[in-house]
Order: sequence, then C-alpha cells, then structure tokens
Amino acid sequence: MTILVTGGAGYIGSHTVLALLTRGYDVVVVDNLCNSSEQALVRVQQLAGKALSFAQVDIRDKAELGNVFQQYNIDAVIHFAGLKAVGESNDKPLTYYQNNIQGTMTLLEVMQESGVKTLVFSSSATVYGEQNPPPYHEEQAIGSPSSPYGKSKAIVEQILQDICRAQEQFKVASLRYFNPIGADVSGLIGEDPNGIPNNLMPFVSQVAVGKREKLSIFGNDYPTKDGTCLRDYIHVTDLANGHIDALAWLDKQVNGCCDAFNLGTGNPLSVLDIVQGFEQFTGQKVCYEFAAKRQGDLAAFWADASKARTELGWQPVKSLKDMMVDTWRWQSQNPNGYC
Ligand code: NAD
Ligand code: WQD
Repeated sequence: MTILVTGGAGYIGSHTVLALLTRGYDVVVVDNLCNSSEQALVRVQQLAGKALSFAQVDIRDKAELGNVFQQYNIDAVIHFAGLKAVGESNDKPLTYYQNNIQGTMTLLEVMQESGVKTLVFSSSATVYGEQNPPPYHEEQAIGSPSSPYGKSKAIVEQILQDICRAQEQFKVASLRYFNPIGADVSGLIGEDPNGIPNNLMPFVSQVAVGKREKLSIFGNDYPTKDGTCLRDYIHVTDLANGHIDALAWLDKQVNGCCDAFNLGTGNPLSVLDIVQGFEQFTGQKVCYEFAAKRQGDLAAFWADASKARTELGWQPVKSLKDMMVDTWRWQSQNPNGYC
C-alpha cells in the first residue's frame, strides 16, 4: 500500500512515516517545510533502511498537489499538514484558516478527483472545547474551542462528516491527539520547534540543555492536586502507531465511514509531575518559577482512551520514563535540532 503523508517532515509526521516504512508501507511525503526540515526525512530513511518519495509542495497549491496524485498510485492519505501554534492563531486567524481549512479542502478536492477515498486526519483534544468535562470521550459533542487553531480542527472534522454523508464510499478517521511528547528511541528524530517553544516538553528540555534559563510554570492555583494544570501526555511513537492501527481499521470497513478516536493514555499528569519526572529519569535539573496563568489554558483535561483500544486495537505502551528519557536523548544529542 502507498500512503501519502501531508506534513510528513514535521514532528508527529516524521515518527509516523518511520512507523509506516518499518511496517512495509510505501510512503510519499508532501510538505512545504514551513515548520520542518528535510533532514528529518533523511534520518527517517536511515532508520528505516528504506527510501520514501518527497515532494516539497504546499497543500493549498491544487495543481502541484494534483501532480503528486498523478505521479503515484496513492491508496490512502494521512493528513498532518497545518499550523499548530494556538497563541499565534489568535494573532493570525486568516493564516490559520487558510492553511488548516483551505488546505484541507484543496486536499479533499484532489483526493476526490483522483478517486482516493481513505483519510486519517490529525485532529486534537482541543475540539472538545471548555464545555465538556474530562475525561473527554468521543460521544461528547464537539465543543467551541476558543482559538482559531482549535476552531480550524473542529470545522475540518465537521467538513469531513459532511463529505462522508455525501459520498458513500469515503472513509475517514479523525484522531484526536492529547499532548504528544517524546522522541524516537534512536534520538535521531524529535520535536524541533522554531524559536521559543510554546509547549511544555520542549521548553523543559531546552532549559535542561542550557538553551533557556528557566521554565515559567503558568499558574499554581488551579483546582488540581498540586495547583498546576493536568494534561494527558502521550509518547509520539505510541501516537504514530495509532495511525497504522487507524489505517488497518479503515481498510476493514466495507462501507464509507467517518469516526473519531481519542489518542491519549487516560492518565492525567500535572506540570510539576512532568518537571519532577524529567529530573528523576534523566538526572538533569530543571530551573523553574511560577508565573501568571496563560490565557486560554484549561485546568485539566485527559482522554477516555477506551474507544481506540476496543475498536482500533491501539494501546499506548510507553511509560513516563520513556517519554522523559527519549526527549532528553533527542535534545542532548541535537541541542540545535536539525540545524
Ligand atoms: P509540525 O509543525 O511539526 O508538522 C506539521 C508539518 O506540516 C510541518 O512539517 C509543516 O512544514 C507542514 N505544513 C504546514 N502547512 C503546510 C502546507 N500548507 N502545505 C504543506 N505542508 C505544510 O506539527 P506536529 O506537531 O507534527 O503536528 C502535526 C499535526 O497534528 C498538525 O495538524 C497539528 O495541528 C496536529 N496536532 C498536533 C499536536 C501537538 O501537540 N503537536 C496536538 C494535536 C494535534
Ligand atoms: C501543557 C501545560 C501549560 C509551557 C496545546 C494545544 C493543544 C494541543 C497540544 C494541538 C499547560 C503548561 C506550558 C510553558 C507551562 N496542540 N506550560 N509553561 O496547552 O495543553 O495544548 O498543545 O492540537 O491543542 O492547546 O500544551 O504543552 O502548551 O502546555 O507551564 O512554558 O504546560 O500551562 O498546563 P496544551 P502545552
């Protein structure tokens, strides 16, 4: 089977491409490299011992994307390409809607014209919004996420539902990721954010490696066990494997379908759990201070991960120790990322 992976040079995409190649799939990556490096793909091929095809294309460019679909015999698409910085999306909503919604619509048009009917979509726990109480489960209605980023994910999921209603044979799995962290066990690929990291884990590891002075922990009086926010951190390799299970599940569906699955562990951890876990499992000190709450942060959310287990047969196997040790191996071996 040949899988087209949009955004395959990025953090989650590169780990998923590695998992695909390792399991015997052929892979075509489409990425405009706006938030990634081709070096990630060089390393993925090195790790897999197998070549992939790469086209540096923006998914909003319908003609170029169409050429890729003409050139290869694509069986299914995994769609990671998009912008993901929640704060930035508040400042540049149009850019986010163009990339995440318009980009997906162009991809769907090209898929339709090429007769490709199977899609795995990178969604997010953020689609539950603040109205739904945790643990989030898939039967809860999509909420009203506060950021344009979150809205773009919720809107795309709804567009996909409409397309599946209109086209009988279209098959879609929307995977709602919780908080992906960690890196491949080799230390060769990992998360390489541009500039100052927005997310907790890369900030922690950059403090440990000496690139940042100290971590600001956003808020210490939330109604949680230690006053810091609770999240469901999931190892990126477990997450990557969830995409393979979703492809296998879609392959088994006789009729068209549109379904959503949480990919999380179901185990909430606080910001302090992460800082202390990192220190304990890597032996590295993480300087931190408590700071004001970050606007838009929810006190706590985590997954009810039972649907992915029962229907996809997917279960995370990596521990907190794996998440910390693998993050540190990547960060310490590549202090400047892929540069
Ligand atoms: P990433 O930025 O590392 O990867 C996204 C990739 O898409 C990058 O390689 C980027 O260059 C590419 N890209 C962006 N816009 C493009 C366009 N118009 N055309 C072609 N390529 C384009 O991000 P990631 O963390 O790997 O996330 C992958 C997907 O998962 C995203 O859709 C993101 O919204 C979603 N997601 C991420 C998280 C997370 O915490 N990392 C959580 C939930 C959902
Ligand atoms: C985790 C916790 C922060 C940085 C975001 C998106 C979500 C999804 C994953 C894409 C929070 C705290 C963080 C720091 C801190 N992405 N923190 N100091 O906000 O749960 O989720 O990324 O879909 O949609 O909203 O992840 O890693 O930014 O934060 O104290 O420097 O760490 O307040 O409690 P978040 P995060």
